[in-house]
Amino acid sequence: VKFYTPEGNYDMVGNNTPVFFVRDPMKFQHFIHSQKRRADTGLRCHDMQWDFWTLSPESAHQVTILMSDRGVPRTYRHMNGYTSHTYMWVNARGEKFWVKYHFKTDQGIEFLTDEEADRIAGQDADYHRRDLAEAIKRGEHPSWTLKVQIMPFEDAKTYRFNPFDLTKVWPHSDYPLHEVGRLTLNRNPADFHAEIEQAAFEPNSFVPGIGPSPDRMLQARLFSYADAHRARLGVNYKHIPVNRPKAPVHSYSKGGAMRMENVSDPVYAPNSKGGPRADSQRYPEEAVWEASGEFMRTAYTLRKDDDDFGQPGTLVREVMDEAQRERLVSNVVGHLKKGVSGPVLERALEYWRNIDKDIGERIAKGVKSG
Ligand code: HEM
Repeated sequence: VKFYTPEGNYDMVGNNTPVFFVRDPMKFQHFIHSQKRRADTGLRCHDMQWDFWTLSPESAHQVTILMSDRGVPRTYRHMNGYTSHTYMWVNARGEKFWVKYHFKTDQGIEFLTDEEADRIAGQDADYHRRDLAEAIKRGEHPSWTLKVQIMPFEDAKTYRFNPFDLTKVWPHSDYPLHEVGRLTLNRNPADFHAEIEQAAFEPNSFVPGIGPSPDRMLQARLFSYADAHRARLGVNYKHIPVNRPKAPVHSYSKGGAMRMENVSDPVYAPNSKGGPRADSQRYPEEAVWEASGEFMRTAYTLRKDDDDFGQPGTLVREVMDEAQRERLVSNVVGHLKKGVSGPVLERALEYWRNIDKDIGERIAKGVKSG
């Protein structure tokens, strides 16, 4: 989501799940490679996926969600959106909080079964894009209610697990949801290339009062998206209308191909010629935390509930009903039967037994029968 605010652009680049596969950004590229295509055949490969997942037990929570009904939304309209990461908010009194965003679909959660999804993928590869465009055209503007979980700054130091760990959710019983607004998709793009393909979303685009947290995954994302945009769209990608803030921008940035705006002298700062200056009275640097090592050490010291299998186990046992568990077992069995064998399969069965003993046994039985 790109928010064009009077203070500049604020981007929220999230996902349809509240957690992610890894918590260490050094593993991100390896995760991506394992989900893409093999070097030899150029084909996607389930063995490669389970090999990586089972050697990275922190993936258990996200893999459980992926294999559940939530893994295959019926349409883009029928799924939630999440920041997943924890971010920082600072209020007018300068008080700091940690927040997680939840965009709850007003259309309700709906999913496709494995068979339905396979059939649709073969018939209409544009199914999701078509559904969204046609719904908006019909005037059925999909909307999401934005809610936030808010954690007081100091709680992060003593919470029972690392609140900056991207593989964990904050239970609503600890930090309830507060409604803050609504996101409505009320028009289609006029030019898909100009407005969608050239859009550049980057988690480093903040506005005063919002900042990052010490989540290491987020820290990596803060620079990698802008790098990708410079490579994909050119250094002046922020001049493209869809990326350009609606608020006036005063900067000393002036070089590079495809610059659209004239600059005027002086072209350096500081200067005594009346050039733009940061207004530190109006925008004090508040959304910051100590990066001096102490905070990161506190954030990343292992805590009581910092295990990998606890939350996915609770999800399976306490959140899902029996019909949902049955579909989870069937989705995993179907996935494992497509090219996963030997030690990787054995590790995958062990992985599921670690999430939940009973589910693990049911998956093992399903894989071994036929
Ligand atoms: C260390 C972790 C990560 C890195 C280094 C990373 C990096 C990237 C890069 C370079 C792109 C392409 C950007 C572009 O060309 O426009 C991208 C796309 C994307 N990423 Fe990540 N990512 C990470 C984790 C995540 C997480 C945790 C989420 C969700 C919470 C996420 C959501 C997305 C989305 C939605 C896109 C597509 C954006 C678009 O279509 O414009 N990524 N990521």
